[in-house]
Amino acid sequence: MTQSLDELISQAQEKFAEAADAAALENEKAKFLGKNGVITGLMKGLAQLAPDQKRAEGARINQAKQQIESLLNERRDEFARAELNKRLAAETIDVSLPGRGRSKGGIHPVIQTWQRIEEIFRSIGFDVADGPEIENDWTNFTALNNPENHPARSMQDTFYVDMNDADGLPLLLRTHTSPMQVRYARMHNPPIKVIAPGRTYRVDSDATHSPMFHQVEGLWIAEDISFADLKGVYTNFLRAFFETEDLCVRFRPSFFPFTEPSAEIDMMFTSGPNQGRWLEISGSGQVHPTVVKNYGLDPEKYIGFAFGSGIERLTMLRYGVNDLRQFYEGDLRFLRQFNR
Ligand code: DAH
Repeated sequence: MTQSLDELISQAQEKFAEAADAAALENEKAKFLGKNGVITGLMKGLAQLAPDQKRAEGARINQAKQQIESLLNERRDEFARAELNKRLAAETIDVSLPGRGRSKGGIHPVIQTWQRIEEIFRSIGFDVADGPEIENDWTNFTALNNPENHPARSMQDTFYVDMNDADGLPLLLRTHTSPMQVRYARMHNPPIKVIAPGRTYRVDSDATHSPMFHQVEGLWIAEDISFADLKGVYTNFLRAFFETEDLCVRFRPSFFPFTEPSAEIDMMFTSGPNQGRWLEISGSGQVHPTVVKNYGLDPEKYIGFAFGSGIERLTMLRYGVNDLRQFYEGDLRFLRQFNR
């Protein structure tokens, strides 16, 4: 019996060592320690022995069982370690491999202009306001003294939205930022000094027009703001924006329903590649008394100026871009030039 238990242990050791993988090992385990295994069989055989023999023999079998179990566990650990090493090897990070990198995004040239405009006007005390791009026709047209039959209201110029607002007013994509004059002035007390940059929409598309474009509205209303203030503020803005004193500004009589008198602002560079040509840059004027009334203010008391400038236009002049559509084609070769 002594011999056979020792033999059994070395037999187990041999079989466990031969097992090629964890599954094979568990098969071998069953042969020794399983329900129908050799050790279990020996334990069952004890029943036929006398009590004191049973105790001595039982202890020996138990010891053998423990040895076989620890051999099994050693072999199991070996497989677990091998498995872990395999995984570690498969998941190694090659630290010498260069990273994929992350390229930096850039700010769109039109938005750069927008930011520049805000910066310049903030520096002289203007507030910056923002409002809805889907506007009702009262704020976009009527409040700004646009007559009922004004051509800008026609379907050919304006994107109408197939819906009315809560007050039953027709909705449309705002055709200019001028409705922001009304929205802002109705919510603030004079002096009112604000710019409102943003997106605007018209049914229009060619080298100098895009169906979506950007404008910046300016409004300064107080008890004593004159056309002279408009000239001073706008001329200084252009000099700051183009970073040059070498430009002239002229105010050419024009017509807008919401201003009286109205003027087109033209500028001309007196040096550089564009020198000597008058360029139209903005609409402007002294706010019409009817519009001041629609702000909810007394036109006998309050007076001031407004202007509305195209942000794409300013961007094109600053960078010498001659086709506005390039801003919206998303060609990175074009856009990258503005982010170096
Ligand atoms: N809203 C006008 C347009 O889109 C531009 C404009 C002209 C705005 C004169 C003004 C202004 O504030 O006074 O063509």
